[in-house]
Amino acid sequence: MNQQLIFTNHVAQKLDELVAGMNPANVVVLVDSNVREAVIPRMQEESETIAKATVVVVKPGENHKTTDTLSEIWDQLIKAGVTRKSLLINMGGGVITDMGGFAASTFKRGIPFINIPTTLLGAVDASVGGKTGVNFNGLKNQIGAFANAETVIVSSTFFKTLPDSELWSGYAEMIKHGAISSKDHFDQLLKYDLTGRDYDKMLTLMEENVQVKSNIVAADPTENGIRKALNLGHTVGHAYEELAMERHSPISHGYAVIFGLLTELILSKNKAGFPAEEVDRLAAYVRKHYGRFSFGTDEYDRLIALMRHDKKNYTADEINFTLLTNIGEVEIDRTATEDEIRGAFDEYLRILS
Ligand SMILES: NC(=O)c1ccc[n+]([C@@H]2O[C@H](COP(=O)([O-])OP(=O)(O)OC[C@H]3O[C@@H](n4cnc5c(N)ncnc54)[C@H](O)[C@@H]3O)[C@@H](O)[C@H]2O)c1
Ligand SMILES: [Zn+2]
Repeated sequence: MNQQLIFTNHVAQKLDELVAGMNPANVVVLVDSNVREAVIPRMQEESETIAKATVVVVKPGENHKTTDTLSEIWDQLIKAGVTRKSLLINMGGGVITDMGGFAASTFKRGIPFINIPTTLLGAVDASVGGKTGVNFNGLKNQIGAFANAETVIVSSTFFKTLPDSELWSGYAEMIKHGAISSKDHFDQLLKYDLTGRDYDKMLTLMEENVQVKSNIVAADPTENGIRKALNLGHTVGHAYEELAMERHSPISHGYAVIFGLLTELILSKNKAGFPAEEVDRLAAYVRKHYGRFSFGTDEYDRLIALMRHDKKNYTADEINFTLLTNIGEVEIDRTATEDEIRGAFDEYLRILS
């Protein structure tokens, strides 16, 4: 069930070696139109595999992570003569690896696929761990399957064309992985200068970081236990993300996660003895690099209602959380009352003001 992970800034060479070993009947590369422009021309020059492959291009963005696009992909796979002896390469952000992974796992009952993430969020989160799928009826990831890529090739070379906001969005997930892994790694992440875009150093950090997710997923692939640790920051984060959407001024997932992480660490401090100085340290970092997501006390009820809507979080009159007793010390299946959550909102707003 384990996926092979390759960390390299020589993607073309590694990919060609890998594909030569697999010897597929033919190869299809799935990209969105942004990745087609930013990445494919160079990859076609450098990689024999990509030069020979059929390139399937879909429209970019979360709005196109749909069953309609999935149908288009299946259609293109048929046109390209894909069989179970073929190989699909998903090259793109989380939308492409989620949707391409699902397309591959369902086409002719499953064909092999490789993920090559081209966003930071894709590299440290979406492309690893076997969750694939598409949105349906306006709800996220409603149709999907657990399906592992044969291999994930993780590289920072693609990030040169990535806007800063996309980098920061992915970095929030890295900080979350740092918080659930170790003080050393968490420190490293807060000290690293992301804006300097030192891609080699970034690759080293990603290697340690992806391993955090990968180890947790290997221990609990279908999320019955410890995989819930990866949900840290997301119970509150999803509610922030949805509130922003309702206000018609969406914030990206990673930004919602970093604000959610800060709020949940405040909750961890109040309920599980998480150190106050670590909350302050993260708050200073968030203020400097992510700014502030703000809301009024009159919106607390809506935020709590949004958390309840996510059925994963609901038990009677309390809401489920993953909390930390310290950096790297995770407690899953904890609960908090509405009053405790309101208290954490108060502190969050105060600490970032
Ligand atoms: N399966 C999982 O475990 C998991 C985990 C986290 C997130 N996700 C999913 O991941 C998705 C979000 O991923 P994302 O943020 O990568 O979104 P995305 O795939 O939409 O990529 C973000 C934007 O960057 C563009 N892009 C991609 N690579 C580029 C490059 N190298 N240069 C320039 N532009 C580039 C894309 O075209 C897109 O416009 C969501 O659908 C989410 O549900 C899945
Ligand atoms: Zn996330």
